[in-house]
Amino acid sequence: MGEPTIPMNLDELVVQAQADFAAAADAAALENAKAKYLGKTGQITEQMKGLGRLAPEERKAQGAVINVAKEKIEAALNARRDKLADDQLQVRLNAEAIDVTLPGRGRGMGGIHPVMRTWQRIEEIFGSIGFDVADGPEIETDWTNFSALNSPENHPARSMQDTFYIDGKDTQGKQLLLRTHTSPMQVRYARMHKPPIKVIAPGRTYRVDSDATHSPMFHQVEGLWIAEDISFADLKGVYLNFVKAFFETEDLQVRFRPSYFPFTEPSAEIDIAFGSGPLKGRWLEVSGAGQVHPTVVRNMGLDPTQYIGFAFGSGLERLTMLRYGINDLRLFYEGDLRFLKQFN
Ligand code: PHE
Repeated sequence: MGEPTIPMNLDELVVQAQADFAAAADAAALENAKAKYLGKTGQITEQMKGLGRLAPEERKAQGAVINVAKEKIEAALNARRDKLADDQLQVRLNAEAIDVTLPGRGRGMGGIHPVMRTWQRIEEIFGSIGFDVADGPEIETDWTNFSALNSPENHPARSMQDTFYIDGKDTQGKQLLLRTHTSPMQVRYARMHKPPIKVIAPGRTYRVDSDATHSPMFHQVEGLWIAEDISFADLKGVYLNFVKAFFETEDLQVRFRPSYFPFTEPSAEIDIAFGSGPLKGRWLEVSGAGQVHPTVVRNMGLDPTQYIGFAFGSGLERLTMLRYGINDLRLFYEGDLRFLKQFN
């Protein structure tokens, strides 16, 4: 018995099946094509059925030949199945492709308000030279906001700071008010701490005032350093150090201009002048300051013959406007994102 030869019809059948499978565009078409060859009445199945009519030796040889054809057809079927599955996956991958270079669609990031940024920078700068940071109430008593600061009732200096009064009275029967400055924190803090007292107190303040450079609500930072030997020269050194750090330049001068505050003696306005930039050479007021008045030291619960020091009060909006070159303070409170986004 020689090598079994594949009858032409089986060989053609394989070629035919391969062509049919290749032409099947999707899984359903492929299953239909498969039925034509391998299904219950498919052509390979029919060939197998026909084996029963052959003589035993012939049956064996022909069976082997049919099996070879069947395997080839099955291999073609599986290859086509894999190819269709791959193609389908590829179509899905293309459709669902994620462009990782696109910007995310998350919520817009919030930012820090420029005045708050100033607040934070001031805490950092004064913190770095040993100042504590204190927070105090915005609703104040008449005593802490005025009287303790050497502005008794009916004193004309009170009219420098017209304020908002609150329905409600303190323990002295005096009407409560929104603090007009952070200076009440001098007395509040000093009465709760032992000297040396070295503190800044940033916060919101209120006055009946509204124009391009004044807002009914604004921010100040109070500074206070009381010990046995704190002089005006220390004030000058500390404040010069502060403005150089705050404005990030050494090219800047500080000037103390005589002024009046009931709670300091002597009193001064602090002006600065930049040596370069758009504001070059102009004296710009940034703070009130002075040596704490002996009456205020006494109201702090301290002996003014033993303790002495300075205080200053600076406007955060003012410092922020100078730092960024902003000319209208109302921009800070309008919540316009076009303005605010420039700082973040
Ligand atoms: N409290 C003053 C103001 O609001 C500023 C100031 C503070 C002046 C401390 C002297 C000392 O104008």
